[in-house]
Amino acid sequence: MRLFIAVPFSNPVRNALGGVVDRLRKEALEGRFTRPENLHLTLAFLGETEDTPALRELIGRIAPPAFSLEIGGLGRFGDLYWAGVRESPALRALASSLRRALKEAGYPVDDKPFRPHITLARQARFASPPRIEPPALSMTADQIILMESKRIDGRLVYVPRFRKTLLGA
Ligand code: 2AM
Repeated sequence: MRLFIAVPFSNPVRNALGGVVDRLRKEALEGRFTRPENLHLTLAFLGETEDTPALRELIGRIAPPAFSLEIGGLGRFGDLYWAGVRESPALRALASSLRRALKEAGYPVDDKPFRPHITLARQARFASPPRIEPPALSMTADQIILMESKRIDGRLVYVPRFRKTLLGA
C-alpha cells in the first residue's frame, strides 16, 4: 500500500484552508482541488510499503514534544499550489529524525529535500496568477499519523492507520 506520515490539522485550520481551496477553485480554469478532509502536512513519504508492527513501533519511538505550526502564504511547484508552512527547528528535527529512522530501518523513504507545504490544488490552471493569500494560521502539532493513500472510485482517499500523540499534547 502507498503510505506516508503526516501532521493532521485542527478543525479551525482545516476550515480556513478549505475556504482557500474554494476560492482557488472559483478562480481556476481547471484543476484538482484538495478536499478538506485530505488536507495535511507530509513529513515523510514512504511509497509502496506494508503497514507492519515494526513500522508502527518505529513511529511510536519518535517522541518529540508537541510544537507550534505556523501556516500562511500561497506558493506553487509548477501547477501544484500549496499553502506555506514556516520552517521551524522543531518541525525540521521531527521530519529529519523520522526520515533518518525510516532509512536506517530500510524503508524506501523519499529523500527529496524537505519542503514543508500543504497541497491545495494539483494540475491547476489560471487565466492570471491567483491573488489569493492563505491567512496566517497557527496551531499546535500534537500528533503524527501514518496514512494510507488510495483511490476509491477515482477519488483520492487518505485512511489513517496509526496515530502517535506527541509529548505534552
Ligand atoms: P504533494 O502533496 O506535494 O504531492 C501523499 O501523496 C502525500 O505525500 C502528499 O502530501 C505528497 O506531497 C507527499 N509526497 C511526497 N513525496 C511524494 C512522492 N514522491 N510521490 C507522491 N507523493 C509524495
